[in-house]
Amino acid sequence: MDHLEQIVNEARAAFAGISDPDALEQAKARFLGKNGQISELLKNLGKLPPEEKKTAGAAINQAKQAVEEALNSRREAIREAALAARLAEEALDVTLPGRSELRGGLHPVTRTLERIESLFASIGFTAADGPEIEEDFFNFTALNTPEDHPARSMHDTFYLNNPDGSLAEKVLLRTHTSPIQARYMQAHVAKYGQLERMPEIRIIAPGRVYRVDSDATHSPMFHQVEGLWVGENVSFADLKGVIADFLKRFFETDDLNVRFRPSFFPFTEPSAEIDVAFMSGALKGRWLEIAGCGMVHPNVLRHAGIDPEKYTGFAFGFGPDRLTMLRYGVNDLRLFFEGDLRFLRQFA
Ligand code: PHE
Repeated sequence: MDHLEQIVNEARAAFAGISDPDALEQAKARFLGKNGQISELLKNLGKLPPEEKKTAGAAINQAKQAVEEALNSRREAIREAALAARLAEEALDVTLPGRSELRGGLHPVTRTLERIESLFASIGFTAADGPEIEEDFFNFTALNTPEDHPARSMHDTFYLNNPDGSLAEKVLLRTHTSPIQARYMQAHVAKYGQLERMPEIRIIAPGRVYRVDSDATHSPMFHQVEGLWVGENVSFADLKGVIADFLKRFFETDDLNVRFRPSFFPFTEPSAEIDVAFMSGALKGRWLEIAGCGMVHPNVLRHAGIDPEKYTGFAFGFGPDRLTMLRYGVNDLRLFFEGDLRFLRQFA
């Protein structure tokens, strides 16, 4: 029965060389299929003489079993290999560092604006705002700056086109937050103007403003925070007290001096620039200009329908970008607006 052994060996060798399940089933047919080698032998069994049939039959069946075993163990091996390959492919490397969620943070100037708002809120100022595309009227005229006033040229700004390309007259990107004063007073008078005693106006109004200016300390877009307090007997002394107190709280130090330097704005009279000097630290002793201010000009009150004989007020406009630079020790204003996350992340 060497022939049988040969068939079994051949089958084992054939199966061993196969790693694809379909190819394995095809190889099986060669041995166990209807016309396979083993099946042929069984078919021929009938031709043998009776005395040989029994032993030959037993031997062929043994060989058949051996081929089947070889087939099954190869099938099993192929399945295990496929499973192992799939597991390897789908494996999760739990040692890889996770992808953490990117967390946003507040822009340093936004932090300053919120800080200013909340410090003023603590002394009764409410937040107000106005449009960045402002009417010429509120940006200038209502603020005692008529059309031919030379102060308009100090505020070179961006004008807008109509959809047809022509210059949009009467609107511009606001050059300061002061138009919010005019808008707020007008609305306040519309609401309370008929009352015997008008409630006080106390607002703080942060926002973006625009001028044609660009260098280390000027950006074509920058921020201002407008403040306005109008009521009976509001004086310059109140202005000084409010500002000095605010600055100490903003910078969290009593170690600073504040000075009011005479200046000019069409919408305040008298007007002043506010300078601050720190008594310690890197900027020790240097006067730094941080705001404009003054007593609201009677014409501005009148424009809004407020009787300047009865009410007075002060206004101020801070440069919060400047305050942010001072608070965090940043020396180039443009860094705030370039959107470089390496810089901005430091404040988040
Ligand atoms: N609006 C002025 C400016 O932009 C600043 C200012 C505000 C001055 C309020 C006086 C009162 O320069």
